[in-house]
Amino acid sequence: MTDSQIVLTQISALEHLSLADGIRYISEQYPGKVVFSSSFGQEDQVITDAVFRNQLPIRVFTLDTGRLFQETYELMDATKARYGKSFETYFPATERVENLVREKGFNSFYESVENRKECCFIRKIEPLKRALAGADVWITGLRGEQSENRAAMQILEWDEGNQVLKYNPLIHWTYDDVLAYLQANRVPDNALHRRGFISIGCGPCTRAIEPGEHPRAGRWWWEASKKECGLHAS
Ligand code: ADX
Ligand code: SF4
Repeated sequence: MTDSQIVLTQISALEHLSLADGIRYISEQYPGKVVFSSSFGQEDQVITDAVFRNQLPIRVFTLDTGRLFQETYELMDATKARYGKSFETYFPATERVENLVREKGFNSFYESVENRKECCFIRKIEPLKRALAGADVWITGLRGEQSENRAAMQILEWDEGNQVLKYNPLIHWTYDDVLAYLQANRVPDNALHRRGFISIGCGPCTRAIEPGEHPRAGRWWWEASKKECGLHAS
């Protein structure tokens, strides 16, 4: 079988498996080579619960940009305590951050899209590349409902930029499915969700949303269109 035939076979298997069974299946297909990246958002907490409660053999990591909300750090500790498991934390390269703030200050992301992408590159994308080194499969909490770009994604697809297979086990889940899972399994979540926040990233780049606003409207709210940081660029 060619590589693309193998992936097609895996897609049809994954489409019929439960969350935990899907992650187990992919970890058997690529032993020791599967990683999951968590931002501690609601979707990621669903996956974390499935991974830790079922003792699935994959690496879990988070990207700490250095600009996260205090509530997110509290959730990180609460999650660690709840499951008795730890996760790897990747930080931005010190020298890159030092140069950025020396040259452009602490809040350059508000000044232009270019500056914002530069900050996202230094604080998220470069650390992500280090975190993915040696991995064959990258598990994410992406859902199709979140944006047009994400609606076009498959449950398993080749990520050319990162040279890994990306496995999106929640790609067909609705927001209600996520909430129901969190509630049924009493999974810890971010206190900010009770203050109008849905999609949560860095503190200076995320605001609460108003009823009726798009769930990602609070991300980089001052920018007219782009609601992606480049981790999942189309
Ligand atoms: S973003 O591109 O807009 O920041 P979003 O917050 O929707 O992404 O999260 C989508 C997925 O990207 C998450 O389910 C997670 O797999 C990954 N991700 C985003 N931010 C981080 C982070 N700080 N650390 C680890 N993974 C992250
Ligand atoms: Fe920087 Fe904002 Fe991107 Fe966080 S979301 S890395 S603070 S530009």
